[in-house]
Amino acid sequence: MSQRFLFPRWTNKFLALLGFLILAGGAYASVLFLGVTSPETLNTGYRPLQPIPFSHALHAGELKMDCKYCHVSVDKSAHSQIPATQTCINCHSPKTGANGAPKLSAIHSESPKLKPLRESWRTGESVDWVRIHRLPDYVYFNHSAHVNRGVSCVSCHGRVDQMEVVHQAKNQSMAWCLDCHRNPEPHLRPVDQVTNLAWTAGGEKEQLELGKKLRAENNINPQTNCAVCHR
Ligand code: HEC
Ligand code: HEC
Ligand code: HEC
Ligand code: HEC
Ligand code: HEC
Repeated sequence: MSQRFLFPRWTNKFLALLGFLILAGGAYASVLFLGVTSPETLNTGYRPLQPIPFSHALHAGELKMDCKYCHVSVDKSAHSQIPATQTCINCHSPKTGANGAPKLSAIHSESPKLKPLRESWRTGESVDWVRIHRLPDYVYFNHSAHVNRGVSCVSCHGRVDQMEVVHQAKNQSMAWCLDCHRNPEPHLRPVDQVTNLAWTAGGEKEQLELGKKLRAENNINPQTNCAVCHR
């Protein structure tokens, strides 16, 4: 990846960083220092080649599978895991089961595209999915804290249900986090609609009214002090 060898961002932020390093000091600072050059965070459009050409447009879009069917922990924990092989095997099982009986759930069971999946099922080793979104280690992020307050996947990941190949839709910089923490109203919706990426409140005006209402009703107040994200 050629992006790995571009350093100008680091130099641009050097002054701000220096100030923070003096404040933070010690071991924490060295972690910060290493993290700043991490290329993935700001890589809008980052789109690695995956071992299996998995399509969200097909599974989440056309087949209308809920995000939580595969990303089971997204509303329960900080992390939203990549699904285990078992989840795919529910539909893409080998043609016959252990006793040789035919399986009804063997969709595309001979497909060459699914070879790594069958390999993973046979060996018990997980599929080597390449991670796309990654914040530096010195930033604390929590999925459930957002999803359970009515912030939709679409606000942060874009229309994944229309993507053949997932790419990073937003530049996940600190300014991006803070923009929404200061002004969350455009991004709040009923909690039962967070995985419905096509949902809208109507227009912009309706969204702002709804956002204000939900914010007041549920006492939603995203924090902007450093310790919230840098623990
Ligand atoms: C059938 C299972 C399945 C469903 C349903 C599904 N996903 Fe995924 N998702 C995956 C797999 C497998 C990957 C890893 C491969 C890839 O990136 O395409 C992934 C990757 C992702 C990533 C990138 C993770 C990273 O590496 O940073 C995001 C974001 C994501 N999914 C969001 C969603 C959203 C939003 C929905 C609902 C609209 C959804 N997914 C529905 C299986 C699923
Ligand atoms: C609920 C059932 C279901 C689950 C779970 C599921 N899929 Fe699928 N998948 C389908 C269906 C149905 C198709 C075929 C659609 C068609 O051909 O019209 C398909 C097609 C595919 C294809 C295209 C195969 C080809 O040869 O064209 C790939 C690759 C794939 N799925 C990967 C995955 C992976 C990886 C997972 C787990 C993260 C997964 N699927 C989970 C139902 C499922
Ligand atoms: C407030 C913004 C935000 C929302 C809302 C959000 N995500 Fe994420 N997502 C992120 C960030 C930031 C990362 C990178 C996290 C990291 O590196 O620790 C990420 C990473 C992921 C990953 C990669 C695995 C992981 O946990 O790091 C998946 C999969 C994912 N998100 C799926 C989803 C799904 C599905 C939804 C909706 C149900 C969702 N996200 C809602 C910001 C968000
Ligand atoms: C689209 C809007 C939006 C974006 C983007 C966003 N947040 Fe948030 N964040 C919220 C809302 C809303 C809350 C919930 C506040 C509440 O519960 O009062 C929240 C809460 C949090 C919390 C508190 C969780 C807890 O444990 O109490 C953390 C930490 C956090 N966000 C980190 C981040 C980071 C880091 C980013 C950027 C990578 C980010 N957020 C981007 C809207 C957003
Ligand atoms: C809502 C979450 C959030 C809050 C609050 C927050 N930060 Fe950050 N911060 C981030 C994220 C995300 C990054 C990583 C951005 C990147 O990878 O470029 C970051 C990166 C940094 C960096 C590394 C240099 C850079 O800009 O990339 C410094 C220094 C920093 N933050 C200082 C602070 C200070 C000081 C405060 C309090 C005034 C603060 N942060 C509050 C989310 C937050």
